[in-house]
Amino acid sequence: MGLDSRNHDGNIESDTGRIEVEESNFNIHGGHRFLHFLKTIKNIKKGDGMIEILHVSDLHLGKNAYTNGSAKSLLKAVSERYPFAGKDNTYLLVTGDVTDHGKNGEYELAGQALSPFTDRIFITPGNHDYGSWGGTDYTEEKAKHFDDPFASALGFKHPFFAKKVFARQLQDEFGNTLVMIGLNSCAKEGPGDFAQGEVGEEQRKELADILAGYNGKKIPKILFLHHIPNREAALPDVMTLKDWEELMEVIGDKIDVLAFGHQGRLGVATKGKYGTEGEQIRPMKLRLLGGGSKSALRKTWVLDANDSVAEQCCYSIRWDGEEIKPEMIMLGVPDVPSPVKP
Ligand SMILES: [Fe+2]
Repeated sequence: MGLDSRNHDGNIESDTGRIEVEESNFNIHGGHRFLHFLKTIKNIKKGDGMIEILHVSDLHLGKNAYTNGSAKSLLKAVSERYPFAGKDNTYLLVTGDVTDHGKNGEYELAGQALSPFTDRIFITPGNHDYGSWGGTDYTEEKAKHFDDPFASALGFKHPFFAKKVFARQLQDEFGNTLVMIGLNSCAKEGPGDFAQGEVGEEQRKELADILAGYNGKKIPKILFLHHIPNREAALPDVMTLKDWEELMEVIGDKIDVLAFGHQGRLGVATKGKYGTEGEQIRPMKLRLLGGGSKSALRKTWVLDANDSVAEQCCYSIRWDGEEIKPEMIMLGVPDVPSPVKP
């Protein structure tokens, strides 16, 4: 299965189910076999199959030896705990900043680290992949390098640089179906943009059209991007997705999972217990959009995987036709010596 024949124009293509029927089943002489086939189909119901997405982010390969070792350790732990071999419906999702500066050598490092997941991976670029001087030194050369040769070697021909929405429908052999939708939130600006991102009007419109196409269909949707989509970052005009409010208007209650990352442990101003300004950092945990209650009619899970390397942790998003309920999976300690001397 490749990731290559779709999405040049933003259209959704579907992996078909894997229930294969021999021609003779439909032959009049193979009537009994056809009846057996029908019984088999009847016994297959939702809940028997499973699509699983494992979400990590911000690998920052190239930053230093410890980060490189920790990122590789995380990917190794993911592939050991979730052997992809023989499991057609398990995928890795990496929400950007795969490199630290978008340098050629760093892309090479990232390509090698992710190559075991070729054709089984969803990715989107982060501001560091587009160039970094604190995450802001954009160059077109670095940005285009993400598409080719980096992403193309992993099985993509998607025009990330052109900021087209990535959309792909997955279906397992039991008919469980979900949609992966990726946005490029990189702002393509040089020093002075302070690592901010922007989805942009064209992508928002394309996203709205895609979501409208699913109106009334009970097919879960996972929306992924690099920047924080659902709130202001710590300081105004720094690190924030410039059009996050417009994006959230488009998203409404139409998305089941919002998955993202973005560099740094942001301080988010919040009222403390006694009315003082406290600081909320971003450890990985399960959150619902807007603090929505579990009894809400429609739940949107918010998965912030920024700390997945530091915490050696991933989210597992499983869809078995019944309910989407992500889990946090702790994968142990990094297989690399700590840079901090005891
Ligand atoms: Fe970032």
